[in-house]
Amino acid sequence: MTEPVSKRSSRTVCESRHETSQLMMPQDANNLGHVFGGVMLAMMDKAAAVAAFRHARRACVTASIDRVDFREPIHVGDLVVMKASVNFAGRTSMEVGVRVEAEDMISGLRRHTNSAYLTFVSVDRNGRPMEVAELVPETAEQKRRYAAAQERRRRRLEERNEEEAVQASAAADEAAEAGRSRSRAGAAESDCNDC
Ligand SMILES: CC(C)(COP(=O)(O)OP(=O)(O)OC[C@H]1O[C@@H](n2cnc3c(N)ncnc32)[C@H](O)[C@@H]1OP(=O)(O)O)[C@@H](O)C(=O)NCCC(=O)NCCS
Repeated sequence: MTEPVSKRSSRTVCESRHETSQLMMPQDANNLGHVFGGVMLAMMDKAAAVAAFRHARRACVTASIDRVDFREPIHVGDLVVMKASVNFAGRTSMEVGVRVEAEDMISGLRRHTNSAYLTFVSVDRNGRPMEVAELVPETAEQKRRYAAAQERRRRRLEERNEEEAVQASAAADEAAEAGRSRSRAGAAESDCNDC
């Protein structure tokens, strides 16, 4: 008897979307009252992780964070609002987009300070990648984000392959140089034995 084919589940973007906010305090900032980039990165990572966990309904690890530019300072006393949603789901990985806004608590003005894309991989207890649900983009905006995320994923994989090729060639060069050094040392030793 053939095994029944297990159908991959699917989830919409709305099912995993997450929004969180935090008031910036003096310990989050430098002497000028500007919030540290590292504080922002940690908040982005956590906000994105919630969306990834919700989509996967399983433990997830951060595989990568794309380049992050801090365009505007965030100050002590600002309310930082993070909006995270899954843009794309591969077999075991998910790209999560995080939009960061800073709200001035006195004026109520909100500024979009930066956005970031993070990739999470769903893993089992042993850290092995596990399949996630398919993502169902519903609105035109979600479909646009899905297509853009697919393109970023293609570029990421390309860059990763190039980097691996460079590392492999550097390792091969190093091994060849080590071999040459060993034979030079061997030759020097035999010269020495001759005298
Ligand atoms: C992320 C991790 C689980 C990937 O494991 P792996 O054995 O390389 O997995 P694979 O090569 O099978 O790739 C699994 C998926 O992850 C994606 N992936 C792996 N490394 C990636 C990276 N650096 N950036 C983006 N995606 C990545 C692959 O494209 C693949 O996606 P798909 O299944 O949707 O096609 C592993 O590298 C890991 O455990 N890293 C440490 C994570 C961690 O501790 N993070 C906290 C910060 S230190």
